[in-house]
Amino acid sequence: MPPPSSGGVALVEMMNILELANLDSVKFNSTAYVHLMAEVMRRAFADRAEYMGDPDFNPNIPIDQLTSKVFAKKRFDNMDMTKASISDSALYGHPYDGNNTTHFSVVDKDGNAVSITYTLEYSYGSLMGSDKLGFIFNNEMGDFNPNPGLTASSGQIGSPPNLIAPEKRMLSSMTPTIVTKNGKPYLIIGSPGGRTIINTVFQTVLNVLAYNMQIDKAIEVMKIHHQWLPDEILYERYLMSPDTRAALEAMGHHLRDVDNLGELMGITYDAKLKVYIGAADSSSPDGGAAGY
Ligand code: DON
Repeated sequence: MPPPSSGGVALVEMMNILELANLDSVKFNSTAYVHLMAEVMRRAFADRAEYMGDPDFNPNIPIDQLTSKVFAKKRFDNMDMTKASISDSALYGHPYDGNNTTHFSVVDKDGNAVSITYTLEYSYGSLMGSDKLGFIFNNEMGDFNPNPGLTASSGQIGSPPNLIAPEKRMLSSMTPTIVTKNGKPYLIIGSPGGRTIINTVFQTVLNVLAYNMQIDKAIEVMKIHHQWLPDEILYERYLMSPDTRAALEAMGHHLRDVDNLGELMGITYDAKLKVYIGAADSSSPDGGAAGY
């Protein structure tokens, strides 16, 4: 007897993802149709490659997970209807999981502030948790410099301080930040986004402190990112003017557009109104500000 085929699981996964798309607006054989189908297929086949094989040799194939609506929603939510995703053989379906770093900024009624960035990498990190401690273990090996000595214009860094070594911990870019004024929390801010975190937090702090923006505005306005290598400025596509771009290019900068930088979550204290004002980046699908 052959093992059960992967067809049923992949078919259900693809149907579940498609169920979330507004198919009525996607004309048969249109560009949008081919793009949507290809992106759904890409995801299902990445999961098939990662998880599926003869069950006698793979006793833990997560069939319930792969065929669940919750899983399909995760695969759907990170599809971009204007751009092809990347198929990365090292990451299987995980690039489509979202990046699984999240940030909370919190202030209690007594003015105590907490700024927490929590990073797992990949879905559920290392897929292990501690029942005694109540958290999930991360999977952060990618934050080490991968190749000793290989620092490349592509952005790979091979310098010694962050090379893998026994018991060494990898370098994070998380930047949970609390700015105080007269000894009290005034700005609580942070973001996911890998190496972009440092720069998006930096600019948001400047927006509040130097440009006097309210926190919601400070979070939403145009951000850029430069990380030494690759030598390029990433900018938020619809937020930088063409004139500015042309002027920067004339100065010798290399520019690349991205949909979005950062998912900032912040709070400031308004001393006049004596209230805390919270704001969540509109680019975060499940972020929000709440008071009590
Ligand atoms: O600690 C770090 O710098 C990375 N693990 C953060 C990854 C991250 O923010 C991915 N998120 N979008």
